[in-house]
Amino acid sequence: MKIAIPKESHPGETRVAASPDVVKKLIGLGFSVTVEKAAGAEAAFTDDAFKEAGATIAKDTASALKGADIVLKILGPTTSGAKSELSMMKKGATLMASLGALSNKKEIDAIAKAGVTAFAMELMPRITRAQSMDILSSQSNLAGYKAVLDAAAEYGSAFPMMMTAAGTIAPAKAFIMGVGVAGLQAIATAKRLGAIVTATDVRPATKEQVESLGGKFLEVDPEMEKEAQTAGGYAKQMPPEYFEKQKQVVSEHIIKQDIVITTALIPGRPAPVLVTEDMVKSMKTGSVIVDLAVEAGGNCPLSEYGKVVEKHGVKIVGHANVPGRLAHDASSLFARNLLNFITPHVDSESKAFTVDWEDETITGTCVTRDGKVVHPMLGTKKKPAKKESEKTDTAEEDQSASKGK
Ligand code: NAI
Repeated sequence: MKIAIPKESHPGETRVAASPDVVKKLIGLGFSVTVEKAAGAEAAFTDDAFKEAGATIAKDTASALKGADIVLKILGPTTSGAKSELSMMKKGATLMASLGALSNKKEIDAIAKAGVTAFAMELMPRITRAQSMDILSSQSNLAGYKAVLDAAAEYGSAFPMMMTAAGTIAPAKAFIMGVGVAGLQAIATAKRLGAIVTATDVRPATKEQVESLGGKFLEVDPEMEKEAQTAGGYAKQMPPEYFEKQKQVVSEHIIKQDIVITTALIPGRPAPVLVTEDMVKSMKTGSVIVDLAVEAGGNCPLSEYGKVVEKHGVKIVGHANVPGRLAHDASSLFARNLLNFITPHVDSESKAFTVDWEDETITGTCVTRDGKVVHPMLGTKKKPAKKESEKTDTAEEDQSASKGK
């Protein structure tokens, strides 16, 4: 069976969905692997390294994808136009990538129509067994680390306390908002650099995690937070009263901070606004905010996607594709996640790749199969026709569905 790894075509995408190590392992499992020329160039993986690992190098995307049974990608394929990546994939091929399936309905429909079986890796269930397949974790962890380094690079002072002959430099105060995978790594990294770290989250379980990393937890409303977590471990959309309380608590705290890293996300919804313009105005000149949620709309309304801007004397960092700023490690871990996803479905003796369609990691991520969109979160059911008087509601529901709510 042929596995293809094309060069990512999305502007600014520096990662590649395989590393030479993973190619070696895939070949060991019985696959043949084709990597497009220069696919790993921006992640510091050379064609020679892939060749040494046993891969064939294809001269362009079309020849890499031609006849491939499995296509590994970082982001979904381009789907429109005669020369789209999707049109180069054969009917019956299997695609594994971060598809942003909850918000890219049109693309998922096109993939289904092309007869490609697709696995949206970002939908991996948060179960213990699937931790090694979880691209959100592997990439967020790196993003949390890099966010702190990006903040340090923009900040005009030092992070640690320094007692020098010329005088003492006070340690930086870093505040981490949202303590998921990225937030936890941001806390650990800021601590290692010598900052005084505080953090906050809606999920009460995070208090202990923050403290175990040597940070101080900023509590908003423990009573309302009791209901803040879904069974899957994600944050829920909080009621307006909570946001009011949070605003008050954060406003008082943020005035004293030098560095703010925001990471708060709610799956399938725009990121919650946690740092308002008034809060930015209240911060010290020279402070830095890194908004890791900028791709989902941002936790700060002043952050700009792909840019570092200065507003009210505060630098606001909104880099796009933060894991891609550590392309080598991000690619290696992403590739490992894919390998760990594939391996249980390969028979160790016959080397046959046979998907176990009952497996929770498969049912959780499979979005298209046999020409249809099959994932329950993608709402494929047709709604009954509504009366004229009900049409406004329908429009709103449709919009919600397309956002993956
Ligand atoms: P995420 O990226 O969806 O969100 C980041 C953080 O923002 C979360 O901690 C969330 O609670 C917080 N947040 C959302 N709204 C907020 C608000 N209004 N104010 C403050 N904070 C807010 O989260 P991530 O990193 O994906 O982790 C979610 C959970 O999944 C965690 O409990 C994590 O430990 C768990 N997890 C489990 C895995 C497994 O068992 N396989 C793998 C990875 C994560």
